[in-house]
Formats: sequence, C-alpha cells, structure tokens
Amino acid sequence: MKRILSAATALCLMAGMTACGSPARPSAAETPAPTPDEGLAEETTAGSHILVAYFSLANEQYEVGVIEMGNTEIVAEIIADATGADTFKIESTEEYPATYDGLLEVSRQEENDPPQIAGTVENMDGYDTIFLGYPIWWGDLPTIVKVFLRSYDFTGKTIVPFCTHAGSGLSGTPGTIEDICPDASVGEGLAIRGSTAQNDRDSAAQSVESWLADGGYID
Ligand SMILES: Cc1cc2nc3c(=O)[nH]c(=O)nc-3n(C[C@H](O)[C@H](O)[C@H](O)COP(=O)(O)O)c2cc1C
Repeated sequence: MKRILSAATALCLMAGMTACGSPARPSAAETPAPTPDEGLAEETTAGSHILVAYFSLANEQYEVGVIEMGNTEIVAEIIADATGADTFKIESTEEYPATYDGLLEVSRQEENDPPQIAGTVENMDGYDTIFLGYPIWWGDLPTIVKVFLRSYDFTGKTIVPFCTHAGSGLSGTPGTIEDICPDASVGEGLAIRGSTAQNDRDSAAQSVESWLADGGYID
C-alpha cells in the first residue's frame, strides 16, 4: 500500500531529500547521561569483536507498504550473517506509530524531546567494530540513533555506517557520526534503497557482500 504523501514530504523525497535540511541536534542536556561500561572484557559472550547495532521499524514504510521486518533490519541481518557479528536492535521505550504519517509527526517531535533507548549493549568495550544501521529520516540520522551514539564511549573504535533510504543515500550522516563521536574512526558507509532491501534481498546481499569485502571485513 502506498500512502499519499504531504506535498512537502513528496517534494523532499523527489529531490532526494538532500535539500530538506537536517533537524536541530538535541543539546547534551536533552539526551540521557552516558552509560558507563563495567570492566574491560577481552571478548563478548559470543566471541565476536564486531557488533551490528541498528534502528529499524516495521509496519508502514515509504514505497514498500506494510512490512513485517524493517528495511534496515534486513540489511543488518545480512551483515551479521556474513561477519558472525553480535546484534543489538536500538529500540525506544515508547512504541512508534504504525503509520507512515504518524512516523513523520513523531520523528519531528523527537528532535526536541529525544526518545529513551530500551536496554543497553552489555559489553561495548568488547567490540572494536560497530556496524551502525539506520533509516535516513529528514536527510539525517533518526534522533534515537544520535541518542545511541551519545550513550557509549566509542573512543578508538571503528563505526561503519549503513543506511536504507528512499533517494537520499547516506546524506552526510557519516559526517554527523564523526561530529558526535570525534574519537572514533568512521568507515566507508553503505546506502541501500529501502525498497531494494525489502523486495530484492539477493541484490541487497550482493551489495553488502562486496562492500564488506572491499572494507576487508570478509574475504
Ligand atoms: C520520518 C521519516 C523520514 C524519512 N526521511 C527520508 C529522507 O529524508 N530521505 C530518504 O531518502 N528517505 C526518507 N525516509 C524513508 C526511509 O529512510 C526508508 O523508508 C527506510 O528504508 C526505512 O527503513 P526502516 O524500515 O528500516 O525503518 C523517511 C522515512 C520516515 C519514516
């Protein structure tokens, strides 16, 4: 089911969203205090030094109708399968609306009233590489992903961004990650159209595999 977009939203999507501006970043006072990691473990329980952390929503999404698994989650699973990484799904303590129009509204409200993340990564110190997945929202990272980045110390780690989108590509988000986490290295990102992830998983998997191989994450 394709929903009819508001004129402004339709224009943004047609323009690849790059001209639509980024929402103001919430101030430090508005975001939760960092969660300190306890202890310095050598390895995670699964023995992997790689984490795939991602935010992704099912239900109604642009171009793909009502879906059971979010577009970004599909890509996250492909990456985790290929690398043997652990996974962490970034979820809000409050449920998101099931409609696309509802999401458009809530995503704007969140910019001034950031969501809280349910659960924590148990041992962030055990990971040296974090694949970070998100949908592009308003040409930017969703606010909840910014909250995630401010909740841990990523010093010395490599963050490798991947996103799904409806025309914007990565839309400058690697630079935003660098701004939020100046002491981390940010790897080459991957952008996959949401409709490709949802409707053509083989093609998405091929893109993921060549990107992982180029980055030296798989042979
Ligand atoms: C609130 C909201 C804002 C969006 N803004 C953009 C955008 O600026 N550019 C773009 O290409 N796609 C945009 N999209 C489309 C999503 O990036 C795309 O549908 C994505 O694949 C959804 O991933 P998910 O199912 O993992 O949540 C937006 C979607 C929503 C819900």
